[in-house]
Amino acid sequence: MTARIIDGNAIAASVRADVAAEVATHIAAGGRRPHLSVVLVGDDPASHVYVRNKGRASEDAGMTSDTILLSASTSQEEVLDHVRRLNADPAVSGILVQMPLPPQIDPHAVMSKIDPRKDVDGLTPANLGLLVQGTPFHAPATPAGVVEILKREGIPTQGARVVVVGRSVLVGRPLALLLSNRGPHANATVTMAHTGTRDLAAVCREAEILISAAGAPGAITADMVRPGAVVIDVGTTRVADATRKSGHRLAGDVDFQAVREVAGAITPVPGGVGPMTIAMLLVNVMRAAKALEGRA
Ligand SMILES: NC(=O)c1ccc[n+]([C@@H]2O[C@H](COP(=O)([O-])OP(=O)(O)OC[C@H]3O[C@@H](n4cnc5c(N)ncnc54)[C@H](OP(=O)(O)O)[C@@H]3O)[C@@H](O)[C@H]2O)c1
Repeated sequence: MTARIIDGNAIAASVRADVAAEVATHIAAGGRRPHLSVVLVGDDPASHVYVRNKGRASEDAGMTSDTILLSASTSQEEVLDHVRRLNADPAVSGILVQMPLPPQIDPHAVMSKIDPRKDVDGLTPANLGLLVQGTPFHAPATPAGVVEILKREGIPTQGARVVVVGRSVLVGRPLALLLSNRGPHANATVTMAHTGTRDLAAVCREAEILISAAGAPGAITADMVRPGAVVIDVGTTRVADATRKSGHRLAGDVDFQAVREVAGAITPVPGGVGPMTIAMLLVNVMRAAKALEGRA
């Protein structure tokens, strides 16, 4: 069997088109144009690229955006001053503080001060708490993107055996919660695996839906996949590749060529989960704008 390849770019484009339509309807009904404010501290080149892409995507959807650029030596108190100002500004729908932050700034201290209604990364204690409670408001964008892929591909999760490899607060843990909560695109029986898992291969072979968010290229091999399983690869690791002009390429966790001969459906890297992250960020900004205006 050769697996169906899931086109994350096409799914993300359709989510983004839906958000653009929702923005237009919201404005036509007298709503404020949704606005994303990004706080970017320091000179990390990858962070600058991500932030630029997020700004462009929000503008493509008919939203506005701005970026507050701060030097790498900015104090925690200065960052908190910006967060407080953005919380209080009615023109700002969503606030995103780009990670990683320089070492003098405690990310938890900053995240905990963002108004949960404007927390479009879904990483404040309040939004993570709602997720644990089974009543999520803003869910983190990458795990929400995985759920959206399953939904739009018509892959049933009700009662399904799901294995999530990875337990980070950013991806693995919220994804396990989203899929194990009650609900139409959830209600799965979820196992969360990590480096302490005994016999990872046997655990993975149980999965009807196997999701890897380990950041470990080649960690998921064909012998770990149940025939016909859906395999979602969240991993994106930059690896050296002398055949590329750039000298590197993005690698997923899954041994794609071998696993596609066993799986029923599979996401590629790049072009799978990656494009969904920005699409789901826009969904969160739209939700924030509606909630702030009492239109949610
Ligand atoms: N597509 C996107 O937009 C997007 C967004 C976010 C993240 N990502 C990618 O997703 C991956 C995970 O991100 P993250 O932030 O969650 O990373 P992370 O914080 O490093 O967490 C990785 C998790 O995977 C587990 N793990 C690592 N290697 C493993 C192995 N060989 N076997 C079993 N478990 C293993 C770790 O276990 P322990 O807890 O035991 O250490 C940890 O829980 C990365 O490649 C990242 O670049 C992609």
